[in-house]
Amino acid sequence: MSEPKFINIGRKLPPAEPISDVPDWQQAQPAWIENALQHAISLPSGGWYVVDGSRAIGESPERYRIAGEDYVVWRSEGSPVVASDSCPHMGARLSDGFVRDGCVVCPWHGLALGNEAHGSWRPLPVFDDGVLVWVRPESDEEGTLEPILPPRPERYFDAVMRLEARCDPRDVVANRLDPWHGVHFHPHSFGRLKVIERDETTITVRVVYRMGKRLGMEVDARFHCPEPRTIVMTIIRGEGVGSVVETHATPIEPGRSAVIEATLAASDRPQFHTFFRAFGGLMRPMVEKRARRLWVEDGAYAERRYELRCNGN
Ligand code: FES
Ligand SMILES: [Fe+2]
Repeated sequence: MSEPKFINIGRKLPPAEPISDVPDWQQAQPAWIENALQHAISLPSGGWYVVDGSRAIGESPERYRIAGEDYVVWRSEGSPVVASDSCPHMGARLSDGFVRDGCVVCPWHGLALGNEAHGSWRPLPVFDDGVLVWVRPESDEEGTLEPILPPRPERYFDAVMRLEARCDPRDVVANRLDPWHGVHFHPHSFGRLKVIERDETTITVRVVYRMGKRLGMEVDARFHCPEPRTIVMTIIRGEGVGSVVETHATPIEPGRSAVIEATLAASDRPQFHTFFRAFGGLMRPMVEKRARRLWVEDGAYAERRYELRCNGN
């Protein structure tokens, strides 16, 4: 079957050969995906989990469940605070309360809690990288002062989407370690996709992002895992070199995960930043919608993978 033709509206790329001509289903080897996944799982995480996008954390208290524990999250004087959702007095849910003068006020008897510890209740280490908010709960994992962030472009336009899926973080990472499903499972988004480089832990694809029926943007994109719950796609050739899509998976509880995906788009074209400065607010929901559409499908993939693992396959 001949391949669909697209007019590339991006930069012209140097020629590159696919590493194999066999059909995608034969190239997508479960053993390679599993090896790369095991390598990712063996990396240190520093004990950090992504809570949500920075813009999603506001001044009202919200509840987030992370690794089986409920946390209350709010902003105090611009900085995010994350702590146990259980009031140290009699256990009311603090996320049902409200914020006054930067403190969360318990809905049952009005105890105000802020950045100071109160008995065993204390705010956890938090890191706001400007795009995402991370927390480091107490755990056996060796903690680092800051989360392990992949390289990011110096200037970027960012958009973040979050959704939940019935799977573990490893299923989310495994989905992105399988680029071969791209054109088959998401024909609305990818026009053509070939693996052009691969070693034990990283994989590089030449991919056409569909911008319309016959229009596309062809780029080379590399996937790697900087830590066990993150997989990053970096554009290494073509339009927007240095742009990244960071997919983070945060366990909610066994068999349930949050997928938090940050798109950090960059370009060396001066008009790019002028455009996003002016229209970023309008563009952001569109970028988030596109990412969500892919993750609704990839969530189903990850859920199926989890189901198979639970059944011993
Ligand atoms: S339960 Fe929170 S103040 Fe009493
Ligand atoms: Fe996918």
